[in-house]
Amino acid sequence: MKTAMMALLMLTPLAQAHITQGEAFINKPILADLNDLRALNIPILASSEEVGVGYAVIDSDMQAKIQDRAHKVGKCGGFEDLTFDYAFHAEGVAASLKQLELSHKKEILYHQLPFRALTMVPDSAIQSAVNEVNEENLRSTVSWLSSFTTRDSRQPDPNRHVNEMQARLETMMAQAKVPWEVEQISHKSTKQNTLHVRLIGRDRPQEVIVLGAHMDSINGSWGGSSRGAPGADDNASGSANLVEALRILMKQQQSARTIDFFWYAGEEQGLLGSAEIAKAYKASNRDVVAVLQLDMTLFPGSGEFVLGSMTDFTSAWLRDYLRAMNGVYFNFRIIDDQCGYGCSDHASWFRQGYPTLMPFEATFDAMNHKIHTVNDVIFEQSNFKHSAMFTRIALVMAMDLGNSKARQPSFQ
Ligand code: BES
Ligand code: ZN
Repeated sequence: MKTAMMALLMLTPLAQAHITQGEAFINKPILADLNDLRALNIPILASSEEVGVGYAVIDSDMQAKIQDRAHKVGKCGGFEDLTFDYAFHAEGVAASLKQLELSHKKEILYHQLPFRALTMVPDSAIQSAVNEVNEENLRSTVSWLSSFTTRDSRQPDPNRHVNEMQARLETMMAQAKVPWEVEQISHKSTKQNTLHVRLIGRDRPQEVIVLGAHMDSINGSWGGSSRGAPGADDNASGSANLVEALRILMKQQQSARTIDFFWYAGEEQGLLGSAEIAKAYKASNRDVVAVLQLDMTLFPGSGEFVLGSMTDFTSAWLRDYLRAMNGVYFNFRIIDDQCGYGCSDHASWFRQGYPTLMPFEATFDAMNHKIHTVNDVIFEQSNFKHSAMFTRIALVMAMDLGNSKARQPSFQ
């Protein structure tokens, strides 16, 4: 089965997948539910029985059939479009599916644990850090970031906001109590840089907690790279959450584990920055204990203090951890939901086998529909109290998990 799959892959190089038919439709490399592909007689070029996912290259007719079937069973799009998914192409379809299989296996094993209870006891230092989150700081960072015409990675000057953010962080960090480093990480897949701040761990610096948000923005309409893309919700909000978490963390006791902050580049072009970074971490065997992704935190579409917890490309262990911290510190309402595809940078890390978490502003359906337009600005419904929850989640991950020995249960 596996060898047959490889042979098929060799006969179908990805380059041939992008064939223009007429003018409108470009064939798409996709991942979809194996049962759907089989039922619709769509040629499966590679597959994983374990994950229940198949790889296919579809034309417009096949796309219509898949979408039709998906809608009938109440699913969203019905497939994951890999056209711009740099992580997938760079690794090769077979290797990527294999890796996804391994990550998936970890999830299945976790669910087979006899009990999954996580205990957390309240800690006064964490409580006071959580109380320090300041909504006005969030507003001011979102307002500043969304004042750039665009933060698109394809614009002529893709690092202007990255440089200015670095300067701001350096000024802020002049007051830091803990040892820290800042750098811009350049990429092969984009001219935009990822901004990286590291708070170095005291006891076990090789163990890493990643706190991430993409800082780029996009205007989805034609000619998008030069058009206005204020990206207030998507994703000045998550970027601002991290700045505020860093402001509070830099004044705390140095944590046992290292905390890596990333403001990623080129997320909107296919998770470009995070894909390269997660791959590099994996290649050098870095011990990443947990990855938090904050992407869109400002629009309380399901109600104030109601958040979505995405269950695809994330780890059940960290979703349980989120519920545990919620019980001790917050009492938000958390609703499990799915993007249905690798919708943000957490997917890059998940694909490399690292545990990930993606708390989201609302359920998927109730998200802010102004994103990717010139209208994604601060408006009446922007809610900084709501957004502040996400800084608090980052703080607990850094201060609780950052000082513990806890990690995803392993089954070796
Ligand atoms: N912030 C969005 C992802 C998102 C949108 C999450 C709606 C939940 C609800 C992100 O910046 C984005 O636009 N992602 C792309 C996919 C990416 C691989 C290019 C998308 O969703 O189309
Ligand atoms: Zn986004």
